[in-house]
Amino acid sequence: VLGTGVVGRAIATKLVEIGHDVTMGSRTAGNEKAVEWAQAAGARAAEGTFAQAAEAGEVVFNCTSGAVSLDVLRAAGAGNLAGKVLVDVSNPLDFSRGRPPTLSVCNTDSVAESIQREFPDARVVKALNTVNNQVMVDPGHLGGAHNLFMCGDDAAAKAQVLDLIEGFGWPRDAVIDLGDITAARGMEMYVPLWLRLVGAVGSADFNIAVVR
Ligand SMILES: NC(=O)c1ccc[n+]([C@@H]2O[C@H](COP(=O)([O-])OP(=O)(O)OC[C@H]3O[C@@H](n4cnc5c(N)ncnc54)[C@H](OP(=O)(O)O)[C@@H]3O)[C@@H](O)[C@H]2O)c1
Repeated sequence: VLGTGVVGRAIATKLVEIGHDVTMGSRTAGNEKAVEWAQAAGARAAEGTFAQAAEAGEVVFNCTSGAVSLDVLRAAGAGNLAGKVLVDVSNPLDFSRGRPPTLSVCNTDSVAESIQREFPDARVVKALNTVNNQVMVDPGHLGGAHNLFMCGDDAAAKAQVLDLIEGFGWPRDAVIDLGDITAARGMEMYVPLWLRLVGAVGSADFNIAVVR
């Protein structure tokens, strides 16, 4: 798991809970938040640099800001990502002009595509970025049925991510495969609407359902 923020910690904790060994990566080994997480999460948990975490993982989760994700993945090292499923949870939020944030990339490109282009041997799957971190790892606490999206160029990688996401509590039929990695544009451009919904419904603890 690359990232020591709320998303990295939520996903890393859930992965340990469901029986995986997890290394949390950060810019520096011994990062205070990563050490605190690893101590609390128990024997299956470790921490280190982005490169150490990527090397240790069979599956890599990018849980860093979309604006810095390429830098993070360069630090992780192309060799440590080659052949691996790389789940991109990031959003391209740019707060440099204040709030609400703008998107650092959109319309004709996305963070997930830029990652796939720069790391062609990684098997990038965009997923989980359309819900807040509590919903990501505990979808059942919301009332009713609701949906998650995923996309990517590698069908086997998406199947592996679907298995993992099912372990997070998502019913398989709740996860809608939107197709190839260019679908990440829409998944990332949903976030401005998500941000307005937070204000409108008064909470970040919600999701949407696709009703046919
Ligand atoms: N918050 C949510 O519920 C939610 C929901 C859906 C999607 N997302 C997306 O998930 C991603 C993670 O969000 P987050 O709030 O958990 O974490 P975050 O604060 O966006 O990112 C934390 C990580 O970014 C690294 N980082 C920060 N600046 C860096 C730089 N200049 N170069 C390299 N690395 C840098 C930090 O490294 P160090 O550990 O070394 O400090 C840390 O590991 C974001 O893209 C966010 O938009 C968030």
